[in-house]
Amino acid sequence: MISSSESSKRVGLGPGLHCIVSFSEEFREQFRELLVWRRDVRRFRPEPLPEGLLDTLLELTRLAPSVGLSEPWRFLRVESEEARAAIRIEFETANKEALAGYSGEQAGLYSRLKLAGLVEAPVHLAVFADGGTRQGSGLGRRTMPEMLEYSVVSAITVLWLAARAHGVGMGWVSILDAGRVGAILGVPREWGLVAYLCLGYAAEDSCVPELERAGWERRSAT
Ligand SMILES: Cc1cc2nc3c(=O)[nH]c(=O)nc-3n(C[C@H](O)[C@H](O)[C@H](O)COP(=O)(O)O)c2cc1C
Repeated sequence: MISSSESSKRVGLGPGLHCIVSFSEEFREQFRELLVWRRDVRRFRPEPLPEGLLDTLLELTRLAPSVGLSEPWRFLRVESEEARAAIRIEFETANKEALAGYSGEQAGLYSRLKLAGLVEAPVHLAVFADGGTRQGSGLGRRTMPEMLEYSVVSAITVLWLAARAHGVGMGWVSILDAGRVGAILGVPREWGLVAYLCLGYAAEDSCVPELERAGWERRSAT
């Protein structure tokens, strides 16, 4: 068995910068653990994140891939109580409408699901795709313009994993009217909402998705 120091090869890129060009078995096992234990979190402890941690996570997120290297993600931290309250009302409205689309037992189950941690989460991030960006000069988007949004999704996935690696839980809230959220937050017209994220310390850890624990859906076997 090769030790982790032998198998993680680092290449110097100048003062303080190193690039690891291979990863150890130990790292791969830990990476698997990270994937297993990443959760969509809706139940948060109330304490804030330590100073600077959100910046660290967003720095890591910038390493995500993007079509044409367009980096179209725009992260907006929502701090005002007024805006947060308006978003909560939007969620409640959209969630009520979603509930109306189910009936019988499934409606009962849906009504008991917790589908957002908007009240408890110390950090709210609205994430947009900037449709007006010139960065990347349109490379890769001529035939599939939706690649811009997909790039933002890839960044959100990086943030999700980076957050979990730092012990921080993240929940994705999509039960919202994207246009109305954009209007509440006063963002430019070209910015389209991709996600509304809640971050904070999880009230509990689990390696099973909450929707599976609640009996709504199961992960497929393979
Ligand atoms: C695009 C996207 C939108 C989602 N929107 C919501 C949402 O509005 N509310 C919610 O509770 N979970 C939402 N989720 C979380 C999923 O329900 C969750 O990822 C899934 O049940 C698997 O659980 P896990 O992430 O803990 O593995 C969303 C996830 C994705 C990828």
